[in-house]
Amino acid sequence: MSSSTITGNVDLTENDNVTNLPLMSGSVGPAVVDVRKLYAQTGHFTYDPGFTSTASCESAITYIDGDQGVLMHRGYKIEDLAEKSDFMEVCYLLLKGELPNTAEKNKFTHDITYHTMLHEQLIQFFKGFRRDAHPMAIMVGVVGALSAFYHDSTDIHDPKQRMIASYRLIAKMPTIAAMAYKYSVGQPFIYPSNDLSYAENFLHMTFSVPAENYKLSPTISRAMDRIFILHADHEQNASTSTVRLAGSSGANPFACIAAGIACLWGPAHGGANEAVLNMLHEIGSVDRVQEFIAKAKDKDDPFRLMGFGHRVYKNYDPRAKVMQKACHEVLDELGIKDEPMLKLAMELEKIALEDPYFKEKKLFPNVDFYSGIILQALGFPTSMFTVLFALARTVGWVAQWNEMMEDPSQKIGRPRQLYTGYDHRDYVDLDKR
Ligand code: SDX
Repeated sequence: MSSSTITGNVDLTENDNVTNLPLMSGSVGPAVVDVRKLYAQTGHFTYDPGFTSTASCESAITYIDGDQGVLMHRGYKIEDLAEKSDFMEVCYLLLKGELPNTAEKNKFTHDITYHTMLHEQLIQFFKGFRRDAHPMAIMVGVVGALSAFYHDSTDIHDPKQRMIASYRLIAKMPTIAAMAYKYSVGQPFIYPSNDLSYAENFLHMTFSVPAENYKLSPTISRAMDRIFILHADHEQNASTSTVRLAGSSGANPFACIAAGIACLWGPAHGGANEAVLNMLHEIGSVDRVQEFIAKAKDKDDPFRLMGFGHRVYKNYDPRAKVMQKACHEVLDELGIKDEPMLKLAMELEKIALEDPYFKEKKLFPNVDFYSGIILQALGFPTSMFTVLFALARTVGWVAQWNEMMEDPSQKIGRPRQLYTGYDHRDYVDLDKR
């Protein structure tokens, strides 16, 4: 695996002054203008709200080509991983950089499995929430609270402790997520079972009840595992950037992941899968699709077509294609081929993709457009959709956090601003205002 190299330079001319800035290239994708010395040399900042043209770090984990609709993890295409791999392999790949051999995979899976239980006292935290609390609120709270339980893996400068904390987070997220669901429906918590796979264990903890045996369906378990793979990592998205920024101050990994969960909750980001289902229910039937397409195009209407558009993809999100395929498989398996929400979603997608507004703005379905339909078919309430996104994305967050912690050039993230407020003015006493 290569690192970045200087491949040229660019000149910034201001009046008679020319500032020369290095051009750096990675292994594939756009080169970057290294502006680290810009302020020292010119007294100017760069300006890029939303970071539309800004690379915040070097990374070797995930590559996205938004124009071609390509997503690769450590060089392996998401379509191949979703088809041929499983979530434990993808976790190993993201964390360690290579696909595991059989012995490595078995040991990794064993180590994750044996970290799935929660400290029994953590259960008390759930009792402090209202039963109708949004499960994402519970996830932010309980994951942040892990900082108070695992002091033996919060020394961020010890690679061994960083890896233990990473394993604990990957392993415990399904347990916490399942408990958040159980708490919301007033059912008893189900402990993890070490003889089940990661996806099977999560389904078992979520849907089994003590009163009867839970029958696992191989198709459903495979679909769950594939959904986790599709959500595992995605370069420097908003929540991953949040985790990196929190980690750059030296915050412990549990606190960093709690910050990532909080950011993912937003409907413009991971909260979109829940928003898509709510939108489809609001549209209700195909004959109202045009009305909502018109709303989405109306500049004066804040409504956006949820599950459409992406900061990076200006082509079909490759994950959405895999998700759509999985959708049909799961609904066929469940015998609900004519699921009305799926038919409505497919009609909405067809109409939107033929509309000039969506074409010229290159708005395509993203990962969230179909995921909610599968998750609903699997029995999850919409409020759990983003929880599942957070569960799966935890491996990406911890892999990116570890990469940042190992990066010798990393320093605390501290952007500047373009100030537009008052210049200095004298204080006015209260009796003179
Ligand atoms: C995820 O970053 C990641 O990688 C995220 C993610 C991951 O795996 O981590 O991929 C997961 O967050 C997927 C995105 C889920 N969000 C949604 O589905 C919500 C709906 N989408 C939009 O809110 C929007 O498309 C964003 C937030 C996803 C992207 O917004 P950008 O990049 O800031 O683009 P923009 O808002 O500047 O939009 C460009 C234009 C605008 O019109 P103009 O101002 O140029 O006239 O397209 C319009 C927008 O109004 N537009 C939409 C639209 N998305 C963009 N118009 C209608 N419906 C939409 N969904």
